[in-house]
Amino acid sequence: MTRTLISGGTLISATGSHTADVLIDGETIAAVLSPGTTIEADETIDATGTYVLPGGVDVHTHMQMPFGGTEASDTFETGTRAAAWGGTTTIVDFVVQRTGEDVLAALEDWHTKADGNCFVDYGFHMILGGVDESSLKAMDQLVAHEGITSFKLFMAYPGVFLSDDAQILRAMQRAGDNGAMIMMHAENGTAIDELVRQALARGDTDPKFHSLTRPVQLEAEATNRAILLAEVAGGTPLYVVHVSASQALARIGEARATGANVFAETCPQYLYLSLEDHLAAPGFEGAKYACSTPLRTKHEPHADDLWRGLRTDDLAVVSTDHCPFCFNDQKQLGLGDFSKIPNGMGGVEHRMDLVHQGVVDGKLSLQRWVETCSTTPARMFGMYPRKGVIAPGSDADVVLYDPAAPTRVSVETHHMNIDYSAFEGFELTGGVRTVIARGRTVLDRGTFTGVQGHGQYVKRELSQYLR
Ligand code: URP
Ligand code: ZN
Ligand code: ZN
Ligand code: ZN
Repeated sequence: MTRTLISGGTLISATGSHTADVLIDGETIAAVLSPGTTIEADETIDATGTYVLPGGVDVHTHMQMPFGGTEASDTFETGTRAAAWGGTTTIVDFVVQRTGEDVLAALEDWHTKADGNCFVDYGFHMILGGVDESSLKAMDQLVAHEGITSFKLFMAYPGVFLSDDAQILRAMQRAGDNGAMIMMHAENGTAIDELVRQALARGDTDPKFHSLTRPVQLEAEATNRAILLAEVAGGTPLYVVHVSASQALARIGEARATGANVFAETCPQYLYLSLEDHLAAPGFEGAKYACSTPLRTKHEPHADDLWRGLRTDDLAVVSTDHCPFCFNDQKQLGLGDFSKIPNGMGGVEHRMDLVHQGVVDGKLSLQRWVETCSTTPARMFGMYPRKGVIAPGSDADVVLYDPAAPTRVSVETHHMNIDYSAFEGFELTGGVRTVIARGRTVLDRGTFTGVQGHGQYVKRELSQYLR
């Protein structure tokens, strides 16, 4: 076993920061030592001037997901390589069970895509596209035996993924019994589909109508309904994904203030991009930014509210909802009809940098950066303390981050398999210097040494994250 000493860096954790040395033995952290402790190691990495943090944990990705008549353009190979470049050493991807499909067959399918192909460790959630006796039974089995302890339901996409209130309630009751977390895509899909129909009938076909037909009220309504259904189900933990609107966040805040087991995430696109500057760009350009929930107007304080939510813990996690589709072919499916634009954008490579920029801008503390991007996602999704912390016994997932390095985001330099960057031209302060994934150095000062297949499947435990 190789013993590696990381010396002279500033350790950043969810609870504080201090100078310390970190000893890695093989694939795990062996010790956190006072600076300058004499210790025998095979290799020493000088971390002077860098932050040393637990590897990023992105709990919301869609690698090669079939969606919108096409398939997300990053494979587990290209997507986890890009994740590693950006300091993310664990992803949790969504297995998709479509209505009528067998849940366990869907899981098999995802293992076939991912196993042996990943550069960093990966776990799975399960999307239940059809809640019925057979999928509810499968849910128990996934929790007990397959390391899948969280299930995503959709209140949107009628006819594709949508679960009605009875199905949602049944799944929440079942999760209450087996200990799983329910993740919710909270948008009122039937009302949205009607607004989409009306817009297209009027000839409003441009990408910006993707957002205008998904108004904030329909995110807030669905969020509120999900919260109340979880309460009716007996307080099953609920995690609202990709929160984009102040009004939805307010419902989450109210529920949490009463002590409800309600948690939520947002994504960098909602913190930085807007309807006016991106989705409503001239011509068909805006299709690059069509995702659901949609980008919101910059004339209301959605982004500021989301940053505040991250500070107060009403938003506990930043994930990416990485779901890339190329502009030159895949996004063109929606030319002349915004409702046919494949929904999603890519960002798995840039989350750590984009949220760190919030630290630079005074919107978030260093500790909250690490907490929302690594520690809490690991805890909330049953991977802690293996992931999300630098402590003896934890996996040696470590990032050396240079807080002063300039990072320019561009399609010219990114590693995701997508022909544009949603954050093109962003000039950020801070950059990943070195990435260690389960003991293996995969990136150092721009040289990539990761190995396909090094990433292993993480069987997750039940979340211990209750309030
Ligand atoms: O637009 C998005 N978010 N695409 C991915 C699927 C989802 O709803 O998360
Ligand atoms: Zn969703
Ligand atoms: Zn998603
Ligand atoms: Zn392409």
